[in-house]
Amino acid sequence: MTDPINAAPPVSEAIALKVQYQTRRRNWRGQLSISTVRAVDGVDLRVEQGEALALVGESGCGKSTLGRALLRLEQVSEGAVRFSGKDLTGLDQSLLRPLRRNMQMVFQDPFSSLNPRMKIGETLAEPLLVHGLATRAEARARVAEMLEIVGLDPAVANRHPHAFSGGQRQRIAIARAVIARPSFVVADEPISALDISVQAQILDLFEDLKERFALTYLFISHDLAVVRHIADRVAVMYLGRIVEEGSPETVFGNPVHPYTQALLAAVPSPDPVRERNRPEPVLRGEPPSPASRIVGCRFRGRCAHAMPICATSDPALARVGDNKHSAACFLHHHEARQQQAALP
Ligand SMILES: Nc1ncnc2c1ncn2[C@@H]1O[C@H](COP(=O)(O)OP(=O)(O)O)[C@@H](O)[C@H]1O
Ligand SMILES: [Mg+2]
Repeated sequence: MTDPINAAPPVSEAIALKVQYQTRRRNWRGQLSISTVRAVDGVDLRVEQGEALALVGESGCGKSTLGRALLRLEQVSEGAVRFSGKDLTGLDQSLLRPLRRNMQMVFQDPFSSLNPRMKIGETLAEPLLVHGLATRAEARARVAEMLEIVGLDPAVANRHPHAFSGGQRQRIAIARAVIARPSFVVADEPISALDISVQAQILDLFEDLKERFALTYLFISHDLAVVRHIADRVAVMYLGRIVEEGSPETVFGNPVHPYTQALLAAVPSPDPVRERNRPEPVLRGEPPSPASRIVGCRFRGRCAHAMPICATSDPALARVGDNKHSAACFLHHHEARQQQAALP
């Protein structure tokens, strides 16, 4: 346990966070109907100083929306978002702007995040100049240093993005995100669009930067195999909620939520014998639409262990085993088990 008096606030924190999108659609009669997409639906999450937290889950479960909401790139519908203890929930853009240098984002597609008309050197210098952190000469030196740190020749500062490969462009996008020494970086599927051969190199770069700058980051990925080696902690998301959280050793080695177990069963093994003997994926069907109203556990329709209580109550994220491991599943809620036992 950390000392509650001296403990620094988490770098980033979501408290009962909900992010909803209203979507309008016309039916065949031409009538307009509005539905609510609950992309993030009650998330409590803390990213501690110096930590790499991996956020994993299937496509569409709300990872990007959560990451963007933590940086207040999305409006908060309910709950709160804090950054180093400061409440960001209701701040408007003018109040968020001075904080932006401390909260950066790396996107999946490095090409769309780099301005094709700007030279790499200009792109990298921009955050330093915009926030008044360096003179032009200082910025030039910092850019050269940063390019070297991310494994590129400083001479490339004079080139435009199209001159680079996907992996090199992602190195540049990462350099831009960290050049102003942010205290928090959200990396949203930063290697998913890259060739397999360069994915490991970019993961190594994240590890290197984390040590060098004591970086705190949220690493979003739909691929569990990817986060295994770089995460200090793992949070598994399903349909707008965190359903399991813990160290990589626990979440990957001893997962308790049926969803996490199913996700892991679906990861191909590098060992051909194990791969041949791999059980059929347990995860069948699609998750419900985030626009539908759900009663009970949101995973129950796909769960092989669903119990009567799962149809009526929504399991909260609660501690299981050691104090760093939690899951939102009645199979592991002590009270629930007792309730079940007491039923006739
Ligand atoms: N701007 C938007 N308007 C309406 N629906 C959205 C918007 N952005 C995301 N969604 C929906 O919210 C849900 C979560 O999306 P997203 O956060 O992108 O998931 P992930 O990153 O895990 O793939 C999806 O159902 C998606 O279609
Ligand atoms: Mg996404």
